[in-house]
Amino acid sequence: MREVAILGIGQTRVDEHWDKSLKELAGEAVFEALKDARRESVDAVFVGNMMSGSANHQQHLGALIADWVGLRYSEAMRVEAACGSGGAAFRSGLMAVGSGAVESAVVVGVEKMTDSPGDEITAALATAADADYEADMGLSFVALNALIMQRYLHEYGWKHADFAPFSINAHRNALENPFARFHEAITEADYHKAPMVADPINLMDASPMGDGAAAVVLVPADSIRGGATITVAGSGSSTDTLAVQDRQDALWLSAAYRSAKQAYDQAGISREQIDVFESHDAFSIMAALSLEACGFAERGQAPRLALEGAILPTGRIPIATRGGLKARGHPVGATGMYQIVEIAQQLRGQAGATQVPDAIYGMAQNIGGSGSNIVTHILKRGN
Ligand code: COA
Repeated sequence: MREVAILGIGQTRVDEHWDKSLKELAGEAVFEALKDARRESVDAVFVGNMMSGSANHQQHLGALIADWVGLRYSEAMRVEAACGSGGAAFRSGLMAVGSGAVESAVVVGVEKMTDSPGDEITAALATAADADYEADMGLSFVALNALIMQRYLHEYGWKHADFAPFSINAHRNALENPFARFHEAITEADYHKAPMVADPINLMDASPMGDGAAAVVLVPADSIRGGATITVAGSGSSTDTLAVQDRQDALWLSAAYRSAKQAYDQAGISREQIDVFESHDAFSIMAALSLEACGFAERGQAPRLALEGAILPTGRIPIATRGGLKARGHPVGATGMYQIVEIAQQLRGQAGATQVPDAIYGMAQNIGGSGSNIVTHILKRGN
């Protein structure tokens, strides 16, 4: 595989975009990324999306979006891995350019969730769980994560209040990100008094629904002459059982561990060299389990990391630096591409007040289902 670089990035604000169609939203991000890359066209289009069939009555996004952005006749396809669709699409684009099959590609993650009633979207999200043993028993994704969090509190003796720093950090960082859904800082008191969604997960533990798109342009690194480059140093992907009940240990994200290990090995670095980490904080418990699986905290100790301030932009392992899923928002199939764009911003020094100083390596981890399909990428700042 040859080395691949991110030449351009683009994103829309995560919001309720009732005035824009799915293809218009995707187009905005793609046009931004092409402009940023100073390119008019690419050879292939990869689209990360989870639920356009049920939420927007539109499938076949590859051809739809390729045509809309002026790339008719190019190769194009949609990649689906539930909430991990964006990261999976990025890996597909990476493999296409890295293998030499194509000379350039645009990868866009797009999702439009707010045109449909909330209960319909909750049901659509639950299709990423096991239909026979989870969804059909009435378990939503919030409920599944609530069971996992309940178990975590029981096993390790933490209190719900100990998870507050995850949400406070995400909301504070989102204040500085014009593309984030929420621009309101929250306090510990706000965290405690938030309405309960599924005990112990309250509104401040959960990511919101939203519409959005984020995109990058990929090219071979050796085709770039001059200027700073962001390259993909490592990429890993792994699956686990779809149903949480089928795992020996509901508190260990095996696929996160495996995909992160593949990415570290490919990059030839250890976790200590990661300067910034965009974790999949769809729920605060997922941020904690992801930090543990990737080796940043001992098992059962991620809340301590957060309580000690290690996850702040100035800390040892900053997370959610642009707001994370919690406050930037979680338009599910687009999220993995927001993470990649945000890491690229960090490595370019374009992250404003939440810039991590001198960041060289950044990692993004995108989770599909309850830890069932996980993709991890490590990006590196070049000269
Ligand atoms: N955090 C903070 N505020 C939130 C929020 C969140 N996660 N979700 C909604 N809000 C706010 C809205 O902005 C709105 O504020 P306003 O009244 O000032 O305008 C208010 O709460 C009500 O919004 P609404 O959209 O009606 O919320 P809801 O009660 O229908 O849904 C959740 C809230 C948490 C249940 C819903 O966002 C949810 O299910 N999230 C999880 C999604 C999910 O499972 N994703 C996949 C994970 S893998």
